[in-house]
Amino acid sequence: MTDQSALKPHVPTYGPCSIRDLKPGEVKLWCTCGLSKNQPWCDGSHKGTSFRPLKWTVPEHNQTVYLICACKYTRCPPICDATHISLTSTIKNQIENCPLKQEHSNIGDKKLCQQCGFVPDW
Ligand code: FES
Repeated sequence: MTDQSALKPHVPTYGPCSIRDLKPGEVKLWCTCGLSKNQPWCDGSHKGTSFRPLKWTVPEHNQTVYLICACKYTRCPPICDATHISLTSTIKNQIENCPLKQEHSNIGDKKLCQQCGFVPDW
């Protein structure tokens, strides 16, 4: 089994999604790979990677809006903790210095580089 914390997801957007109308007790699957086209939730795009969605149960307290992380680097998933604010240069450096950089041009059906989050033509 792959250590999920060692994987580097793709950043679909550098900011959270404002989500309304969640029902307390409702179970959601939060996208951890960053490939879903239904951000911030899983659409099954992680298939073929080592990523797995995070199961999250909406808390019982009454809250109208949740800021759900869509950069995928929050430290308290799935809630945005503002990590996205200083993430741009980190991700740029991560991709620039990726040990698998030579393989990025030939990534094929692997979908993304799990070492740095690089995605061709996303
Ligand atoms: S969107 Fe990921 S921490 Fe804010």
